[in-house]
Amino acid sequence: MSPARPLASRPLTSHPLTSHPLAAILLLVGLSLAACGKSEAPDGDVAEATEAPAAVLTDVQKAALLAEMPEPYRSADLAKGEALYAMCRSCHTFVPGGTNLTGPNLWGTFGAKAAHVAGFNYSDALKASGLTWDIATMDKWLENPRGLVEGTKMSYIGMKKPEDRVALIAWLKVNTSPEN
Ligand code: HEC
Repeated sequence: MSPARPLASRPLTSHPLTSHPLAAILLLVGLSLAACGKSEAPDGDVAEATEAPAAVLTDVQKAALLAEMPEPYRSADLAKGEALYAMCRSCHTFVPGGTNLTGPNLWGTFGAKAAHVAGFNYSDALKASGLTWDIATMDKWLENPRGLVEGTKMSYIGMKKPEDRVALIAWLKVNTSPEN
């Protein structure tokens, strides 16, 4: 009759980890660190997103910006401009932080120097043009890109009707300008 000895020694020897309080604490700390590591990644993404360029203007802000433009732009037909921008969409994005396609992202173009988008592979001709995208320059560009900048790689034929360019420029201005 001697079963008492093996029974008494079993808990101490066969489960050393779970029976040791320090081991259990270390295990918990390790698990919570792993959990923190996982939850930090999405937080980081959010922080980066808030540092992105300003959001698209509200309708009220767009109306105010349109009213600041000279005629004939201030009374331009924005719906027509929106329909015309379809011609640009195959090569350009227009939203804050939009990707470069065949052409560069056009958010914030008005008021910027030509070829200002970092990371886009512009032609030497556009880089050397010294242009700033104001309304008059944009009008010449859209009428005939190669007429304005010989050697540009924007292979768009040009928008010949002045009233079409007015509508498109007004649409571009209110939809790609950040809050100021
Ligand atoms: C077939 C593709 C294509 C189409 C269509 C196109 N673009 Fe472009 N666009 C480009 C390329 C490529 C460049 C860069 C030109 C260069 O580097 O010489 C460019 C450059 C520009 C720039 C100068 C941007 C800067 O950062 O200086 C503006 C403004 C622009 N395009 C507006 C338009 C508008 C508005 C339309 C629609 C009417 C349009 N583009 C249609 C390909 C296109």
